[in-house]
Amino acid sequence: MLNVAQRHKKLERNITLLASCAFVAVVIGGVVEIAPLFWIDNTIEKVEGMRAYTPLEQAGRDIYVREGCYTCHSQMIRPFRDEVERYGHYSLAAESMYDHPFQWGSKRTGPDLARVGGRYSDEWHVQHLIDPRSVVPESVMPTYAFLKNTDLDARDTGASLTALRRVGVPYTDRDIEQAETDLKVQADPNADATDLQVRYPKAQARDFDGDPERLTEMDALVAYLQILGTLVDVNSAAAQEELAQEGPR
Ligand code: HEC
Repeated sequence: MLNVAQRHKKLERNITLLASCAFVAVVIGGVVEIAPLFWIDNTIEKVEGMRAYTPLEQAGRDIYVREGCYTCHSQMIRPFRDEVERYGHYSLAAESMYDHPFQWGSKRTGPDLARVGGRYSDEWHVQHLIDPRSVVPESVMPTYAFLKNTDLDARDTGASLTALRRVGVPYTDRDIEQAETDLKVQADPNADATDLQVRYPKAQARDFDGDPERLTEMDALVAYLQILGTLVDVNSAAAQEELAQEGPR
């Protein structure tokens, strides 16, 4: 009869036996972690207020991704005291459920932007994007002045929403039909945005770039920045309830 040390020696010296036993151990661990996911309906708790982006906000988001803003900015406030005091309530999973691709990021040369919406005026954003150093002298952020002189290309708006619907964003047929109109209406101070705001609650409709005559990429990007973190009222009773279900962190 081999004692424990001898048995272990045998296991360690027989590579095939060791590999098989390691494999079995990993499989058990894997099944325990993964199997429950097949039996629960959703891994993300729904939170009141969360909605898909309007076509204009989505266009702004596409510009954000195109320009690589994520290389310097994250969009996820971690549940640590220093972050919560600086940026606001930590991010909830549901707040990025319609983000494709998500913008959590791992690099912060600049501040986190998950709750930047409403923190500055549109004028501030426009000025900051045109020339960051004119408002924050020590800034190392690049200039994006060309956005204000570039007309927003609205031709693919419907197709973009259709693609997002395929990956699970709940746009309706009407949202897709109306996409191009919605995009223009949101940035036109003379248009009636009631229908847009019924389908997209809390949508902010106005001229964003300071030039009501033109619909530019600046309009779209500022519309996107101004909605970030403003959809879910994290302090509302409903959100608190969801948070309680998530358990302690
Ligand atoms: C090279 C890194 C870099 C890139 C790329 C970059 N930023 Fe920044 N950003 C910064 C830094 C640094 C700051 C802090 C200083 C300042 O306010 O300019 C900042 C600040 C900001 C702020 C103010 C945030 C706050 O809470 O004060 C906003 C909004 C912002 N950036 C948006 C953008 C957008 C939109 C893009 C892409 C079009 C972008 N940034 C690209 C580095 C960057």
